[in-house]
Amino acid sequence: MRIQHSAAPLGAEITGLDLAQPVDSKTFQQIEDLLHDRGVIVFRGQDLTEEQHITFSRRFGDLEIHVATQCLRPGYPEILVVSNVIEDGKPIGLADAGQYWHSDLSYVRNPSRGSLLLAREVPVQDGRVLGETLFASAAYAYDTLPEGLKARLSTLTAVHGYGYRYELQNSAGLRGKLSDQQLSTVPDVHHPVIRRHPITGRKVLFVNEGFTHAMAGMDQAEGQALLQQLFDHITRPEALYRHNWQVGDLLMWDNCLVQHRAIRNYEWPMRRLMHRTTVAGVESFQ
Ligand code: SIN
Repeated sequence: MRIQHSAAPLGAEITGLDLAQPVDSKTFQQIEDLLHDRGVIVFRGQDLTEEQHITFSRRFGDLEIHVATQCLRPGYPEILVVSNVIEDGKPIGLADAGQYWHSDLSYVRNPSRGSLLLAREVPVQDGRVLGETLFASAAYAYDTLPEGLKARLSTLTAVHGYGYRYELQNSAGLRGKLSDQQLSTVPDVHHPVIRRHPITGRKVLFVNEGFTHAMAGMDQAEGQALLQQLFDHITRPEALYRHNWQVGDLLMWDNCLVQHRAIRNYEWPMRRLMHRTTVAGVESFQ
């Protein structure tokens, strides 16, 4: 197994490891340590069945079943299909998933530990792969805050929600409506603005453009202004890693340490097909 760090404050690449084979505990520990250090890891050249993708993902914890049940891989409810592909006139997955900065499942009480996204088809134009994914380090964002702002934020909590974001993304009606029953499973939740990583204790700035829509107990306009200031800080160019996909990349990220955004620079009939598993996490704390 070879490891190479990216030039950014996050991101690393692993080659020479076949995840279709059992991973021994020493190697797995190295992977976890790297994840907690760099926030994003790409395992290149993986040819995995759905079962193998799920089996490796389960090494990190229980897997979540996404609320958008119409976008789950038939027969594999642990796999969320992220794709622009249309079959028989119907989208086979979430066509516009994550095209805004977010941390997966920050809108639930126990935000996700991490996600594992496997590239099965990527859009190519003139030899260049499109549909890159951007990552920003929420740990680096915390480290580089002015001390006075760190102190102020350490007493604040923010409100995260999914329903309003789903409706924003669904303005063209492509996703299908979430039922009242589905919506009732994702009520708004509060998380500390400065959160500690559940395993390493490292502090991160835990608000994101996608799902954080208010500061608890703060006037709406004042809260929005502060949130916007933090979103701009988190996504400064120096804090970003841009992932250029290859078919067979399994990209894993830590949803506490980093945020991500999918870039939509391709259109049908170019095809992009990704399978995502999402590892459950624990309640956030300061
Ligand atoms: C996601 O937010 O999980 C999707 C990211 C991507 O499609 O690049």
